Order: sequence, then C-alpha cells, then structure tokens
Amino acid sequence: MNEALVTPAVIHAEHLGKTYAEGSLRTPVFDGLSLTVAKGETVAILGASGAGKSTLLHLLGGLDTPTSGEVYVVGQKMSALSDAARGALRNKSLGFVYQFHHLLPEFTALENVMLPVLLNGTSVQDASQRARALLESVGLGHRLAHKPGELSGGERQRAAVARALVNRPACVLGDEPTGNLDEKTAAIVFELMLALNREHHTSLVLVTHARSLARRMDRVLELHEGKLRELRRDEV
Ligand SMILES: Nc1ncnc2c1ncn2[C@@H]1O[C@H](COP(=O)(O)OP(=O)(O)O)[C@@H](O)[C@H]1O
Ligand SMILES: [Mg+2]
Repeated sequence: MNEALVTPAVIHAEHLGKTYAEGSLRTPVFDGLSLTVAKGETVAILGASGAGKSTLLHLLGGLDTPTSGEVYVVGQKMSALSDAARGALRNKSLGFVYQFHHLLPEFTALENVMLPVLLNGTSVQDASQRARALLESVGLGHRLAHKPGELSGGERQRAAVARALVNRPACVLGDEPTGNLDEKTAAIVFELMLALNREHHTSLVLVTHARSLARRMDRVLELHEGKLRELRRDEV
C-alpha cells in the first residue's frame, strides 16, 4: 500500500519527471525525482539558475502537471482530482510566495489577504478579521487600505506572505521569496516564515540562493543535473 496514504506527508512526490515540449523543441528538466516533506519540516532547495527549481515547485503545488510520476498533497493524489478540487486543495492546504509579489494591483492589502479566505466560503466579516490580524502581525496594520502600488517592496512582500499564510496552510512553497528584497527586509520576511513554522507547524519548502538562510532549515537539498541531493551540514 502507498505509505503516503496511510500517514500523509504534507507533500510527497514520487518519480517525478518533467519535459517541456513546444513544437519540436523538447526540454527535459528532470526525471525520477522523489521528495517527501513531513508535517512541520522545513526544506531549502538550492540550485543554479535553470536547474529546474521553479518547475519543481510548480509541480509540488499542482500549478503544473508532471510528465511522469505523482504528487500527493496532504495524502491526496493531485492527478486524481478535478481542476476545481485541485484548486480548492491548493487554496486550503498550500501557500505560495514568489520572488515577485503577485498581489492584485486594484485591491488593497487587506482585500488581497482576505481573498483566499473568502474563496474558502468564509464570511466577509471573519475573513476581514483574520486578514487584519495577520497583516498586523507582519507589521502592516497601518497599511491595510494601501494598494500594492502604494507599498514599498518589502511591504508588498510581507503582504504576499500574509496572503500565503492566511488560510493556515499545511505547507508554504516559496520561490526565492526574499530574492528581490534588501538584506534587512529579506531577514524580516524569512523570520516571519520561520515563526509560522514554529507556532503552527507549517512546513516550508523554500527555493533560495542564500545559503545563510538555507542553513536555518531542517534539510537542504540541491537540484543539479536533474537530481535532488541532500547536502550535509558542512556543505551548506
Ligand atoms: N514553459 C517552459 N517551456 C519550455 N522550457 C521551459 C519552460 N519553463 C522553464 N523551462 C526550462 O526549464 C529549465 C528549468 O527552468 P526553471 O524551473 O525555471 O529553473 P530555475 O527555477 O531553477 O531557474 C530551464 O532550462 C528553462 O529554460
Ligand atoms: Mg526559478
């Protein structure tokens, strides 16, 4: 029996392969890659540009479909779900933070953070309360009514982190979430995610180039030539 179905890991990827195919151009990125992320575990993914880190994160989050293999999120086989069910699972169980914030420009910080909660069918009042509390905890209580264009880069990224966390996901997937920030703001955003991990046992899978950040995670993996290798502490 599949172990992932008995004691669901937060994320379990099995023999994952991805080849991009556009016309006659085939770009194999990796093949036969496996990864299990336990509840509360923090994992850093290192790798050179073009190694396939974003591709891997997209597959883990159900944003793209693997060419081969399977991804299970909290024990659910992603390929067996309808698009709607996959979207609902993603909204409930996963939080995404990208290098660029992807906030909706015409909505305020508060509205942006409320949206994932509203999509869960929560009342506007409850969604507003939760979003407000979270924005306060990331130091944006005084910026609730600001639109992304009226926030600084660091404030935008903190709002994006708040949005990723507001549904208390089982796992946050971050694609260079601090890559675009100055060192001080990057540290604030990173600490915020670690605090979430400590307080709510949210698993973290973060792609990063910063080894100083990677060192603070439970496990450090390197994606190189299509293979995922666990680095020893003295290699990080
Ligand atoms: N949509 C796509 N179509 C074709 N090739 C792609 C596509 N997205 C990424 N690639 C290629 O796949 C490889 C891995 O890309 P990516 O996952 O973005 O790497 P990383 O995030 O590690 O920099 C790269 O060689 C890239 O050019
Ligand atoms: Mg990338």
